[in-house]
Amino acid sequence: MLYKGQWDRAGLDYQALKNQWHVVARADEVSAERPKAVTLLGEELVLWRDGAGQIHAWKDYCGHRGAKLSLGCVKKGEIECPYHGWRFDAGGQCTRVPAHPDQATPSSARLIFRHHAAERYGLIWVSLDAPVRPLPVFPEWEDASFRKVFAGPYRYRGNALRSVENFLDASHFPFVHANLNGNPDAPEPLKDYQVFKDDRGLRTSEISVFQPYGDHRGIPVDARYTYSVFNPTTAYFVKKTGETERFCTFLNATPVDEAECVIWLIVAINFGAELTEEKILYRQDMVFEQDRLIVESQRPARLPLDLQQEMHVRSDRLGIEYRRWIRELGQIAAEGKTTQPEIETALS
Ligand code: FES
Ligand SMILES: [Fe+2]
Repeated sequence: MLYKGQWDRAGLDYQALKNQWHVVARADEVSAERPKAVTLLGEELVLWRDGAGQIHAWKDYCGHRGAKLSLGCVKKGEIECPYHGWRFDAGGQCTRVPAHPDQATPSSARLIFRHHAAERYGLIWVSLDAPVRPLPVFPEWEDASFRKVFAGPYRYRGNALRSVENFLDASHFPFVHANLNGNPDAPEPLKDYQVFKDDRGLRTSEISVFQPYGDHRGIPVDARYTYSVFNPTTAYFVKKTGETERFCTFLNATPVDEAECVIWLIVAINFGAELTEEKILYRQDMVFEQDRLIVESQRPARLPLDLQQEMHVRSDRLGIEYRRWIRELGQIAAEGKTTQPEIETALS
């Protein structure tokens, strides 16, 4: 029985997401002492760091009496349950039962559930099952000529895949972002563009649009967008607004549950060094608030992977290919080419 809003586990969208990397938090939200609770695809997880600073993502559950480990703390590089003070090492083995310090600790192999966790770009990434694709590459991250600004997180009562598709959709600009990214009184026809697919994901040819308030400088620009989808919940664009000016956005949407997502942005810009971070965030916050209202209104909440369920035109090409790709990934996963969450084997 599903609770209201819980993601249907049998759906191809869920199947496509359970073995992929998803951003769940900023790295600085998990300290050496404090675990953090997050939810991914309806699963309650605890994030914590061991003595080496390595990040872990486990089911937020203690196998003794079912308390949430996220309410506990980290001591000597081990996570301590808030209920009876049992401790578990990074491998998931119970190391301490305070009520019986002289006895051997019980094996926790069957009742501590470990998922896959990684840290990159100042973000924490989790995959529930063994990830079938690598962590995405953010092309400008190492390039010092690009200033990086974190924006968000933006919380939507909407679906993560709908929000990614919204990010990939250039024909909504004049309406949702009226007088910023387009002119609602004279919406520009969208020229045809191509979509390419390879093992790095999806990528478009250049899409040109005129924007009255094209970026944080507040000036009109002829923008040329190239979109990419690196992973199902990781998308990116490069926006060229001159010979050398580049405005890039690396977007991640956490699929918290079927109709709840969190959007994390990293913007990379190689111009306008004099502009304040507040000015950059002001425009990002406004644009993503405008998108929020639309994504939250979409029904059904879940992205329809059957193309017959909605109408499509040529400018929707990227959205169509995105839906096809998610469906394909879901079918591959549903055929059983994935593993279940790891259950730690006892160390002794
Ligand atoms: S419930 Fe965790 S130690 Fe008892
Ligand atoms: Fe938008």
